[in-house]
Amino acid sequence: MIATVTLNPSLDRHVAVENLVLDDTNRWVSFNHQPGGKGINVARVIHELGGETMAYGFVGGVDGDVLKALLKKTGVPCDFTSIRAEIRSNFIITDLKTHRQTRISAPGPKVSEGELKKLIDKISAIKPRPQYMVFAGSVPPGVPFHIYRQLIEKIKGLGIITVLDSADLWLQEGIRAKPDIIKPNVREAQTAMGVELKTEEDIIYAVKTFISGGVGIAAISRGRDGMIIGDKNNIYKLAPPDVQVMSTVGAGDSTVAGLVLKLSQGGSLEEASRLAVATGTAATLTSGTELCHKADVERLLQQVTVEKLLF
Ligand SMILES: Nc1ncnc2c1ncn2[C@@H]1O[C@H](COP(=O)(O)OP(=O)(O)OP(=O)(O)O)[C@@H](O)[C@H]1O
Ligand SMILES: [Mg+2]
Repeated sequence: MIATVTLNPSLDRHVAVENLVLDDTNRWVSFNHQPGGKGINVARVIHELGGETMAYGFVGGVDGDVLKALLKKTGVPCDFTSIRAEIRSNFIITDLKTHRQTRISAPGPKVSEGELKKLIDKISAIKPRPQYMVFAGSVPPGVPFHIYRQLIEKIKGLGIITVLDSADLWLQEGIRAKPDIIKPNVREAQTAMGVELKTEEDIIYAVKTFISGGVGIAAISRGRDGMIIGDKNNIYKLAPPDVQVMSTVGAGDSTVAGLVLKLSQGGSLEEASRLAVATGTAATLTSGTELCHKADVERLLQQVTVEKLLF
C-alpha cells in the first residue's frame, strides 16, 4: 500500500473563460472543483492506475467536507485528520482563447500543535504498515518548516520507504533526513542545492550530489524535457513524446505516482522512470485540474525514450 500525506490540501476551483478581460466582468464557460494538494493528487493517480493507496493529511471546514465528498466520489480511500480551521482554496483560471492559465494559491489554514501531533500519531500507527509513504506539497502556517525532516526520520525508522516532493526550505530541510526518493523539478532542485542548474550536465551533477548526500533515488523533472533520475548504481535520461499540452497542473504529482507505483510492484528503476514520465505527460493531456487517464499512460509508455547515462 502507498500512503500519501498532504499537510496542506486545497479545494481547487477551476474556471474557464473565453477571453479573460481584466477590470471587467467575465462569464465562465465551465466551472468545476476538485480535491487538491500534491499528496492527494498522487493518491488519485495511483488509484486511477489500479494501485492500492490511502490519502492522509489535514482537512477542516466546509470546503474540507466538500473535498472529502469529492474524493469519495472518485473512490480514492482517505483517512484525514480533522482541524478546526478551513482548508485553503486555490483558484485556476484558464483562458480558452490564449490557453493561458492563471493560478492563485492560498497559504493554508493555521494548524495547531495538538492537531499536528494527532496526524503524526495516526500515520505512525497505520496497520498494516504501508510499503511507501509519500510526503508532498507545501506546509501550512503553524507547522514548523522542518516538519518533513522530522516525519521522514520517524517513518523511515518504522521501515517504510519515504518519498518527498516539496519545495523551498521544506524540501531543503526534508532532504537532511535522507528520504529514499525525492522528485524536485529543476527550480526546486536549484533551491535545494543553492546553485543554478543551467545545463543537462548541471542536472546530472545535482542528481549525483543528492545521492551522495544519502538520498536513495533522486529524480529531477524537467517539464517537456522529461526527467533525469539516478540511484547509487545508475542514471537515466528520459524524454516524453511531443504532445498537445492542455494543462500542466498535477504533472509532477502524476510523475511521482507512476514512479512509486512501479517501484512498489518490484519494477526496476528504468521501468519505474518510464512509467513516471508517461504518467506525468499523460497528465498534460487533460484540461484544468483533471489528472491523467490510464489509457493515455499506456499509450505514451511506448513512446517515452530512455537513455542510460555513464555514471
Ligand atoms: N510540456 C510538456 N510536454 C510533455 N510532457 C510534459 C510537459 N510538461 C510536463 N510534462 C511531463 O510531466 C513531468 C513533470 O513535469 P514538471 O517537471 O513540470 O513537474 P512539476 O514542476 O513538479 O509539476 P507540478 O506543478 O505538478 O508539481 C515531466 O517529467 C514530463 O513527463
Ligand atoms: Mg512538482
